[in-house]
Amino acid sequence: MSKIIKPTWQSDDGRICLYQEDCLKLLPQLEKGRVDTVLTSPPYPGAAMWGMEEDVLLKLNLSCLEFCLEPLRENGVICWQIADVPNGNHGIITTTTTTTTFAAVNLGLKIRGQIIWDKASSNLVPLCFMRRPIVPSLTHEMILIFYKGDWVPREKKSGLGKYKGLMTQSVWRIAAERERDLHVAPFPCELARRCISLWSLEDEVVIDPFMGIGTTGVACIQTGRKFIGIEIEPKYFKIAVKRIKGCLSLGPGNYHRKYSFMGKKGLSLLEDDE
Ligand SMILES: C[S@@+](CC[C@H](N)C(=O)[O-])C[C@H]1O[C@@H](n2cnc3c(N)ncnc32)[C@H](O)[C@@H]1O
Repeated sequence: MSKIIKPTWQSDDGRICLYQEDCLKLLPQLEKGRVDTVLTSPPYPGAAMWGMEEDVLLKLNLSCLEFCLEPLRENGVICWQIADVPNGNHGIITTTTTTTTFAAVNLGLKIRGQIIWDKASSNLVPLCFMRRPIVPSLTHEMILIFYKGDWVPREKKSGLGKYKGLMTQSVWRIAAERERDLHVAPFPCELARRCISLWSLEDEVVIDPFMGIGTTGVACIQTGRKFIGIEIEPKYFKIAVKRIKGCLSLGPGNYHRKYSFMGKKGLSLLEDDE
C-alpha cells in the first residue's frame, strides 16, 4: 500500500498493513489519494498520561491532521476522536476540539458533523469537588467529522446494517472495554465499527495514524475494510499485531466473535511472541 516503506507487518492478502513508525514520517510517503477514510484518536493535549507538554502534543495532532490530507482521496472523510480535558490541578479545560476544528477549516476541510461519545461512566467524583466553581467530570469525548473537497453523494446501499439508525444520532453511548488493561487510552471497538460503517464502504482503505493496540484494524476486519495502521510505541505495536492476527485467525464469517486476546490473560500471550 505504501510506495516506499515496506510494512513492518502485513496480512497474507495485503489488506492489512501495519507500520511501527512515527506517523509524521510515514504519512508523507504514502501514495497520494490512496486512503478513503481516516479514523484516529491522537494523544490529546492536556492528558498527563503521555508525559508530553500540551503545546508539543497539540503540534503533533495538528501536523498529523495536515499530513493526512495528501494520502486522503478527494471526497474522503476524517473521523478525529479527541477530548477537551481538565489540565493540571486547577481544572482549566483544554480547547483541543475548537483548535482542531479551526485548523481543519484553515486546511480547507469541511465539517460534516460532531459526535458526542458518551462514555457511559457513572459515579465519577468531580475534579476540585470541594471548591467552586466545580469542574464536571469528563464523561464524554468528541469525534469530529471532516470532509475533503466538495460533497459528492455516494452509494446508498452501503451495508450500514444495524448502524443505519445512527445517521440521525449525534450522541453515542458506548462503554469503555476491557482492552483498557492493554493500553492507557484505547477507544471501544464498537466506536470504530460505527465510524467505519458510516463513513466508508466495503473494501475501501481506512488509516489510523495513531493506531495504539489496533482497535481500528480489528473493526476494519470485522466490517470488510482494508487497513493501514501506524504506531510508534513498540509495546503497543506488538499488541496490535497480536490482536489483528487473533481476529483474522477466526476466519471470514466469524470476525465478530469475541476472541480471547483480552485483559491480563491476553497480555501473557505476548511472552511467546515470535
Ligand atoms: C489515544 S492512543 C490511540 C489508541 C487507539 N485508538 C486504540 O484503540 O488502541 C494514541 C497512540 O498514538 C501513539 N503515538 C504517539 N505519537 C505517535 C506518532 N508520532 N506516530 C505514531 N503513533 C504515535 C501512542 O503511542 C498511542 O498508542
